[in-house]
Amino acid sequence: MANPNQAVGGHERIETSNFLMIVLILVAILFGGLVEIVPLFFQRSTTQPVEGLKPYTALQLAGRDVYIREGCYNCHSQMIRPFRAETLRYGPYSTAGEYVYDHPFQWGSKRTGPDLQRVGGKYSDEWHRIHMNNPRDLVPESNMPAYPWLAPKANLDPADVAPKMRALRVVGVPYTDDEIAKAAEAVKGKNELDAVIDYLQVLGTARK
Ligand code: HEC
Repeated sequence: MANPNQAVGGHERIETSNFLMIVLILVAILFGGLVEIVPLFFQRSTTQPVEGLKPYTALQLAGRDVYIREGCYNCHSQMIRPFRAETLRYGPYSTAGEYVYDHPFQWGSKRTGPDLQRVGGKYSDEWHRIHMNNPRDLVPESNMPAYPWLAPKANLDPADVAPKMRALRVVGVPYTDDEIAKAAEAVKGKNELDAVIDYLQVLGTARK
């Protein structure tokens, strides 16, 4: 029988000391976290682009920035989970290799609207044009906001895109010098709506 007056040791010592308990719990979590997270930086399946994945074009990239600025990710995820209900509705579930050129990724965490990971090619450009201008024109019960200011006057600044592409190249997106040099030309005369639609239309197409 343990004598309560005996000097404590081992487990009892840890369990009776708040400080030791907290420190050792943190060490355990830290170690567990590292074991789970660190390999992801080196595994092929998480670091290599899936076959057919291309970096966003200048116009798509500009559209992606509009998507971020307008906060579309607050209502739309871009992450299809590997469950039947998801794949039936949205298509093949998402894999890490589809996002390697996304900095930052747009997975999102809330679905007021549907997932957009595979929306590319689902509708015509014209559908998107009408929908973005006023979603209720196409989906009467929609509570998505209208974005009429993206067109026609809000033209993109061609000088904006090349620096973004150069920055993305630093973090591993393989843009060529030629693509960067032609970026300004590629978005000239386009407005933000053209850009967002071009971006939406490429989403998920690498895996379709
Ligand atoms: C307040 C929440 C909300 C925000 C913000 C929002 N949406 Fe939506 N979106 C919805 C809802 C709800 C639907 C489903 C009804 C509909 O089609 O309008 C939808 C539908 C869509 C669809 C059609 C998807 C499909 O598969 O049918 C697209 C494309 C889309 N949104 C793009 C965008 C873009 C781009 C932005 C940002 C500029 C945006 N949404 C911002 C709520 C939102």
